[in-house]
Amino acid sequence: MSFELGYASAKEVLDDLARFEPVSVQGQAPIVWDRAEGVYVYDIDGRQYLDWSSGVLVANVGHGRPEIVEAIVKTASKPLLFTYSFPSAERAALLREMADLLPRPDDKVFLLSTGSEAIEVALKLSLTHALRTAGEGKRVVVSFERGFHGRTMGAQLAGGSPALKEWLFGVEAPFVQVPFPDGYRTEDTSFDLFETTLAEEGVDPFDVAVVIMESYQGGGASFAPAEYVRSLESWCRDNDAVLVMDEVQAGYGRTGTWFAYEHYGITPDLVCCGKGISSSLPLAAVVGRRELLDQYAVGAMSSTHGGHPICAAAALANLRIMRSEEIVGNAASVGEKLGEGLHRIAEKHPSVGAVHGRGMVYALHMVVPGTKEPDAALATAVVKRCCDWGLMLFAPVGFGGANVKVCPPLVMTEEQVDEGLGILEEAIAGEEARRG
Ligand SMILES: Cc1ncc(COP(=O)(O)O)c(C=O)c1O
Repeated sequence: MSFELGYASAKEVLDDLARFEPVSVQGQAPIVWDRAEGVYVYDIDGRQYLDWSSGVLVANVGHGRPEIVEAIVKTASKPLLFTYSFPSAERAALLREMADLLPRPDDKVFLLSTGSEAIEVALKLSLTHALRTAGEGKRVVVSFERGFHGRTMGAQLAGGSPALKEWLFGVEAPFVQVPFPDGYRTEDTSFDLFETTLAEEGVDPFDVAVVIMESYQGGGASFAPAEYVRSLESWCRDNDAVLVMDEVQAGYGRTGTWFAYEHYGITPDLVCCGKGISSSLPLAAVVGRRELLDQYAVGAMSSTHGGHPICAAAALANLRIMRSEEIVGNAASVGEKLGEGLHRIAEKHPSVGAVHGRGMVYALHMVVPGTKEPDAALATAVVKRCCDWGLMLFAPVGFGGANVKVCPPLVMTEEQVDEGLGILEEAIAGEEARRG
């Protein structure tokens, strides 16, 4: 029996998606992915795109790596398609591979399926710890304006975009957002702002159970000053608040270090991981202090597909590639060239208000020239032109929906970076010229 999908054209695929599942494909260019290999994506008509999306920051070692395919096929053809939380060698081997990347040598890991799930678990562990050690008064969850942690309820409550939380009206407490010190949308990058904002919100520091922060804000590829984050770490320690770093996007090499929190010189209590941990199938993890991860009885935190053997095998193959090919070093060195090129574009083009990022992740903050007003229409038009000309970008994200995100697979070469920069600059110049 052969396995056929039964579509003859992109249009037939798009018609079915629009009819049955419109929300999932909303906003993206209507490119029907057929296969993806290395730094290229191919659509159903065989057209090739240079990928600057990594499929939303997943394909860190590139798409369709034969080693990952082999791990998946080998596990599937044993056959072993599922184990629930029964032990598997795939799961154990992945944990062993992750061991020397943990914040502290005696930390533990909890394997899950999606980034949002990892956020939910980190919040649950942090609030449980606060309740057990300090009682009912310690309930506040502090997070950052413009932050994004996923689409589930806890993750959206911790997020910092009011528009995404309209559906949660009435259930916001005890989530409090403070400004994210990106130096652009928030010019004051001093740690004082953190403390004064909490005071203005009427929050007693000792009531804070957990502070959750993206190591860089995904929406704008924006980093906080290292000094600020080090002060935050001390503040959390002084107030017995759990510090959670959301590395779902940043983890496993994206910024030129294994984890982006390393740039700040801190050691978080919990770290949430996902996306690039496997470069492919859904796998996520919460790692961190054993006294936090050990709070629940064995089996009490089970997740049906968490640590799925095929996903674990894929992640194991991914991490082995990352080590043997020194992918993190490539992200740092090629990423530097990428950053230089994007800054050069920004100097020439007034519609680029700012370039934030590091390693292999950047965002161009598109604005009305001469102002900081986000220009979503311009960002969307630039992305469309790039896709039309064979440079794959996902739809604009972040503040005002006006940030063009640049996040290639970490294996990209300098030549491929130059090729993409050429297309991107032409797209921006074309849109600026069209507007006059
Ligand atoms: C920083 C961050 N945290 C959490 C998530 C949620 O991950 P997932 O979509 O796998 O649930 C995302 C997804 O984009 C993310 O960028």
